[in-house]
Amino acid sequence: MSSKNDFSGKVALVTGGGSGIGRAVCQVLARDGARVSVCDINLKGAEETLGSLKNPSDHIALCMDVSNKEQVHDGLRVTQEKMKATPTLLVNCAGLGRPAPFLEMTEERFMHVINVNLKGTFLVSQAVCKAMLDRNEAKGGAVVNIASVTGKTGLANNSQYAASKGGVMAFTKSCAKELAKTGIKVNCIMPGPIRTPMLAFPQEIVDEFLSRNPLGRFGEPEEVAEMVAFLLSEKSNYFLGSCIEVTGGHDM
Ligand SMILES: NC(=O)c1ccc[n+]([C@@H]2O[C@H](COP(=O)([O-])OP(=O)(O)OC[C@H]3O[C@@H](n4cnc5c(N)ncnc54)[C@H](O)[C@@H]3O)[C@@H](O)[C@H]2O)c1
Repeated sequence: MSSKNDFSGKVALVTGGGSGIGRAVCQVLARDGARVSVCDINLKGAEETLGSLKNPSDHIALCMDVSNKEQVHDGLRVTQEKMKATPTLLVNCAGLGRPAPFLEMTEERFMHVINVNLKGTFLVSQAVCKAMLDRNEAKGGAVVNIASVTGKTGLANNSQYAASKGGVMAFTKSCAKELAKTGIKVNCIMPGPIRTPMLAFPQEIVDEFLSRNPLGRFGEPEEVAEMVAFLLSEKSNYFLGSCIEVTGGHDM
């Protein structure tokens, strides 16, 4: 896939941009002309992504913990100052899992995943969308949230992860309804198993995953990133509150 979009003149803020799907999203958006603020709690990862982009000096890398409101607001402010523009494209990709059987799940383990995957999506979305509205730049604005097919199917030993992703899907649809008239469209993607560090599982778990996948392979981060770019582009202007599966048929 390589059909290009025209994001020239636009600034994109990508959380979780320091690895996996978020890194591929940064690369595809930069390829298609956006200037990218690569945000991640792991600054080294964000800087590595920056170094992989076409014309790195057009882009910036920032340390941002999406579950921390102050860091989110600081990251947005620094993006605006350094880019001399407000991001009108937002991709909420930061996420993590902390597997445990639900009967043994501690409150701390439960809330850690909810705070990053769900609250983080809320904090960053609210800050960036308010900034677009304050600066009269909402028209043409677009948000893509990275949920997971587990938000639909559930996932044993990952109850809080699956719940956070189901929450992201409902949050996406709610924001899409509230913001439609402002010109900001909000959609989400439900990836299936994608070959990133998050899926660095022991071979028997990998084999079990693959046995449930009609294509018999993990997806590549770029295959999700191209869908993100489509949902950010004008080509998808009749998509609103959509939750698009990019799964290779896994758990369909
Ligand atoms: N890989 C998959 O199979 C898969 C499937 C469905 C959904 N997803 C979702 O895709 C997104 C990206 O995952 P990935 O597979 O690329 O994993 P990854 O581990 O390669 O990347 C996740 C990134 O998020 C960052 N991050 C974690 N906590 C953060 C925080 N508090 N603030 C900011 N950044 C933080 C990490 O540092 C990392 O760079 C996640 O939301 C994940 O839940 C992945």
